Amino acid sequence: MKTVFINCSPKNRFCASSYFAFLQRLFVGGKKVNEKLRSPADHARILEQLRDAQTVVFCLPLYVDGIPSHVLRFLEEMEGFCKENGLHLSLYCIANNGFIEGKQNEPLMQSFEHFCTRAGLRWGGGVGIGGGVMLNVTRILFLVDVGLLLLNTLLSVVNTGSFFAKGAWISFGENAALLLFFNLGVLFYLARMGRHIRKGSFSGKKYTRILLPSFVFILFADIFFVIISLFEGGLFRGWLAKKEYRA
Ligand SMILES: Cc1cc2nc3c(=O)[nH]c(=O)nc-3n(C[C@H](O)[C@H](O)[C@H](O)COP(=O)(O)O)c2cc1C
Repeated sequence: MKTVFINCSPKNRFCASSYFAFLQRLFVGGKKVNEKLRSPADHARILEQLRDAQTVVFCLPLYVDGIPSHVLRFLEEMEGFCKENGLHLSLYCIANNGFIEGKQNEPLMQSFEHFCTRAGLRWGGGVGIGGGVMLNVTRILFLVDVGLLLLNTLLSVVNTGSFFAKGAWISFGENAALLLFFNLGVLFYLARMGRHIRKGSFSGKKYTRILLPSFVFILFADIFFVIISLFEGGLFRGWLAKKEYRA
């Protein structure tokens, strides 16, 4: 069985879609192909990959409560391609959004469902994930944790000659457990969808989010965006500056 994972985020690197695609791949067997859809230059290459595939998984961000426009352009072309070549792939979708409620991806899911009907594909369902940006940050925090553990182990070897820095391992375990907890909803639904992808069956639409109380999420999101605004042109310059239209 061949499954094509299409990361549809227009970002060059460090996008949430690639994180969720990575997690989903852990639960899918057979031949797995990773593709990136960022511009029309990617269309022909991806369509060729679909020719002998049984399953396609779209991993994408929610833009203005819907499918990003560059993905819509691709779907238009894909519809014609599938009809011309008699393809009846199973299509699954992993959508993530910035706000906390994953349910906001419902209109996007419906668009994919309608697309499948039009293109003659089998709609397999999807997972809508809220707090995608923050979940994506958890993987960086995990790597930082691993780095700290290695550093502490090194210091322990130098200072005491022991490879086992107990305090560092306890702190690593606590942090890793917390990060895992934030991701539990996502892991559960992606594991569940992985089972359906393997069987080629319908998984339904499921919505989850970062497992964090909303008031904590809002606090951290506000701090995050203030910092980002400062880096991207200054707080008030960024918000109040006259916007220039760029075609
Ligand atoms: C143009 C644009 C529109 C967006 N619209 C929404 C939206 O309607 N609702 C929402 O919750 N997040 C929205 N977001 C946030 C993205 O969905 C969020 O940042 C997502 O994690 C990006 O995924 P990626 O890193 O895979 O590109 C929007 C972001 C951009 C750039």
